[in-house]
Amino acid sequence: MKSKNFDINKIINDFDNLDPEFINPQGTPLEEIHKTLAARGSQIILECGVRKGFSTSIFTYHSEKNNGHCFSVDIEDCSDVVISEHWSFIKSDDRDVKKILNKFTLLEEKGIDILFIDSLHTAKHLKQVLYAWYPYLNKNSIIFIDDIDSFPYHKNQPKNSLMNNINWDEMNKFTIDFSRSNKNDVTLVQIYKKSGLAKLFKKSAKGSIPNRIQSKDRSYILIQFIKLIRSIKNVIKN
Ligand SMILES: C[S@@+](CC[C@H](N)C(=O)[O-])C[C@H]1O[C@@H](n2cnc3c(N)ncnc32)[C@H](O)[C@@H]1O
Repeated sequence: MKSKNFDINKIINDFDNLDPEFINPQGTPLEEIHKTLAARGSQIILECGVRKGFSTSIFTYHSEKNNGHCFSVDIEDCSDVVISEHWSFIKSDDRDVKKILNKFTLLEEKGIDILFIDSLHTAKHLKQVLYAWYPYLNKNSIIFIDDIDSFPYHKNQPKNSLMNNINWDEMNKFTIDFSRSNKNDVTLVQIYKKSGLAKLFKKSAKGSIPNRIQSKDRSYILIQFIKLIRSIKNVIKN
């Protein structure tokens, strides 16, 4: 394969030689994806969000190695970021299932083993993408959701951004609510390194429809009120 913007051999080498003294995975999102793919053999991958092709290069590297295929989608033209027989690109909104399946028929025929969501970073978009593609996910497939930890965007952090802080927190909350609402079908693991990664293991066969979110959040006002009472009680006690 050829990656336009990245030295894929160096990236893979760096992942595999991070710290030989430390036996546990170091858990950066793409290292986690690399290690997961290395253990899974031939996969049908759907990647939502390409940009310069960093994640695309890693997915395509594994697709070549294991005779799988990576199908990538972006609203921008990213068709030249990778050259490989094992990679295909479509310029499309990632929620447009009909258009994408029309071009990539294998996604429907064989089903998806790995779904990677890294496109528009809002909980609303994430929810639409996940619900749209869930019925095409195979038994024992994995869904990766990039960017679920807002910490790098907090106040006084180098990437300080209030909007990203809010969006990332909402994506994280959606991911947790989704896994709780579908606890019989998915298991959620979260990685808090860089801007975070959610990994959802899906149990059911292709064709299953996810439950709607059943969030039982308590009222924000009630929580603030109870916190105030607690603070007043503490002041009185001391
Ligand atoms: C964070 S970048 C992807 C980075 C890439 N996955 C990587 O790790 O190198 C997000 C990409 O999502 C694309 N995007 C935004 N909204 C989209 C949508 N509705 N459908 C498909 N792609 C979208 C953007 O054009 C952008 O290239």
